[in-house]
Amino acid sequence: MSENTNQEQPDFAAMEEIYMALLEKINAITESGMRAAIAGLGLFPGARVLDAPCGIGNHAVWMAEAQADDRVLGLDIDSKQIAYARNLVAGTPLADRISFVHGDVTQLDLPDNSFDFVWCCDGLWLGPPERGCFVEEPYGVLSEFRRVLKPGGKIAILFWSMHRLLPGYPLLEAALNAPLGTNIPWTWESEPETHALRALAWLEQIGCSHLKSQSFCSDFQGPFSQKQEMNLLAAMNMIWGRVQDEVTPEVWQQYETLINPDSDIFILRQRGYAGYVVYTMYTESVG
Ligand SMILES: C[S@@+](CC[C@H](N)C(=O)[O-])C[C@H]1O[C@@H](n2cnc3c(N)ncnc32)[C@H](O)[C@@H]1O
Repeated sequence: MSENTNQEQPDFAAMEEIYMALLEKINAITESGMRAAIAGLGLFPGARVLDAPCGIGNHAVWMAEAQADDRVLGLDIDSKQIAYARNLVAGTPLADRISFVHGDVTQLDLPDNSFDFVWCCDGLWLGPPERGCFVEEPYGVLSEFRRVLKPGGKIAILFWSMHRLLPGYPLLEAALNAPLGTNIPWTWESEPETHALRALAWLEQIGCSHLKSQSFCSDFQGPFSQKQEMNLLAAMNMIWGRVQDEVTPEVWQQYETLINPDSDIFILRQRGYAGYVVYTMYTESVG
């Protein structure tokens, strides 16, 4: 191929590094809510847990920390994330209770009836591949989860369901939240039943009962360390970084000024800054 063609190739290795760095930051700011969700899961001594997709492994670690004798298997299709996750636990006291494997949630290479819990966080955003989705409907993946669960086992599906990150600027935040770019993979044509926050119906469809939805909030308030500022700015960039063309120039300019650390009104150093991110967990209340 010509040099030109090579130059046009996206740098996938760099993109993976950026993605993992982003997951690290997002997991840092959502940790308190996520640990609360894990505490509500009903883990018990000796429980076998599948975390799929596990990304860089943070949730698997928190699930092992939450229950002294459980065993957690993290699975993800991205080998780099699996390598990162293995490195995270290597040499720690948790290493003999957590393992990570490369795998595809649509076709689990795992035995039937082998887990007490399946934890699936931000892993089932449904939609077309061109909107970054790996499945268009949930049932293929959920029936795989069901297959590997022991009778009475529990599936927990979690999604990022809300955020308030610009306190004092409700109209600006509403304007930034409206565009399609913020709501990926959602479009005006998407079927309501495929929206992540309708996951209870998916669980009902595969035969789960006693369904329960519960939300878990991660709060953060200033003053922040530089690292915390970077984490929160990364979250804002993840949510709103693509919407410049979908909002008015005034909205975009005000947003850019607020997130500029050199600006006098940098949002994260404003007096009384407090924000939050909410995750909602859909699961069975008994099991
Ligand atoms: C938003 S991340 C969530 C990771 C983790 N649950 C968390 O919340 O930190 C979505 C993950 O799905 C993984 N993934 C995408 N398609 C997959 C597939 N077919 N099988 C397994 N993992 C997949 C990606 O590699 C990515 O790590």
